[in-house]
Amino acid sequence: MRTSRRQFLGAAGLAGVAGVVGVPGVALAAPPRREDAAPPLPARPVTEPVALAANETYWRSVAAQYAVTAEVTNLEAGYWGMMSRPVLAQYQQHTERVNAGSSFYARGQYLQDLEAVRARVAASLGVEVSEIALTRGATEALQCLIGGYNKLKPGDAVLYADVDYPAMQYAMKWLADRRGVHVEHMALPEPATRAAVIAAYAAAMDATPALRLLLLTHVNNKTGLALPVAEITALARQRGVDVILDAAHAWGQIEFSIGTLGPDFIGVNLHKWIGAPVGVGALYIRKGRLADVDRMMANEDEPDDSILSRVHSGTANFAALLSVPAALDFHDAIGERYKVARLRYLRDRWVHAVRAVPGIEVLTPDEPGMAGAITSFRLQGGKTKEENQRIVDELVKRYGLFTVRRTGLERGDCVRVTPALYNCVADVDRLVAALKAMAAAAA
Ligand SMILES: Cc1ncc(COP(=O)(O)O)c(C=O)c1O
Repeated sequence: MRTSRRQFLGAAGLAGVAGVVGVPGVALAAPPRREDAAPPLPARPVTEPVALAANETYWRSVAAQYAVTAEVTNLEAGYWGMMSRPVLAQYQQHTERVNAGSSFYARGQYLQDLEAVRARVAASLGVEVSEIALTRGATEALQCLIGGYNKLKPGDAVLYADVDYPAMQYAMKWLADRRGVHVEHMALPEPATRAAVIAAYAAAMDATPALRLLLLTHVNNKTGLALPVAEITALARQRGVDVILDAAHAWGQIEFSIGTLGPDFIGVNLHKWIGAPVGVGALYIRKGRLADVDRMMANEDEPDDSILSRVHSGTANFAALLSVPAALDFHDAIGERYKVARLRYLRDRWVHAVRAVPGIEVLTPDEPGMAGAITSFRLQGGKTKEENQRIVDELVKRYGLFTVRRTGLERGDCVRVTPALYNCVADVDRLVAALKAMAAAAA
């Protein structure tokens, strides 16, 4: 059945994503068009990414591509990424189209449209389409990988760190029951320098001779630290250890290239930094490694040599998946290197202004490549839930700045700040003023 679908796809399938509707011979009404309230995205000035990052006029015109609430200044883009207006418009159109076509569309043209989306995701990641399966998010992708990784034997060890995402930690711990392995965990050093982080992973691996599987989180959700994944994966490989990479926060926030990273098993989403509607992710298994991951719950719908048998999502949010090309188009129009540089610029602007302020401890390093948009801090050394929640509450109630408390670091809680492309310099400058005032008041 899959073969016939693929044969059916051809060029028409790719065209389907751009808005062609219906199965061959039976046309559905084209979805209604919506006028977009935003002026079109201006042409990008011819400048290097780092120079353009400081061009507030250009980035304000990018920010205008987002319909942002006036209730608060959102500095909490780490949860999920707002769709730009063009993506939102596409999502609305796809929702109407899918709803009108219902199962007639979902059992027909959709199958080809979905294959085209998958091909587009693979092409954007620079990998082969046979290495990618679409999921509902990074959680689902990583659960398939961690749960499905079948090279573990009783007595082997697996390792995760305090910065890893809770759901992935749970999945790693579950391997004790599922595979009979020892589950080890480690805490990352604070302050986290590139050298210290690499040394910490090397030491943890050396202390665990039975280690066979390591979970790495490329950009973690607590401090935003970006791990030197290539270096750590090389160390793991020397020791015969496989790496599963949680890249939920990597693609679109930092420069991200699967080809040069190293891990053979990766989970991503597109609803954080790619700006797709919520409910889209992908699973990557490097060519040649498929046999090392079990079929998802013995999924019999797809052949064993297809990565599609390694996940089974059930009925999907059709419109969200169909909007992926629009999100990738927008991402490409901004340009990954430009987007990454702007996010880092906004982040550096507040971090550099407060790092030396007495009472403020910034947890995320400034070293190149070690941070993207996300960075966390503590005030007056406060590590409890209550102390950090008080800061979050004061920032929103008194200053209208929305941030979030993060928990789970071995050394204590913190407050996370995450600007996005819809923020401007004035937003992070207000954060600086607020933090200075709060630090002075607490001194
Ligand atoms: C590091 C990390 N991994 C995984 C996830 C889960 O991602 P998803 O929402 O795509 O399931 C998140 C979500 O915040 C995350 O921060």
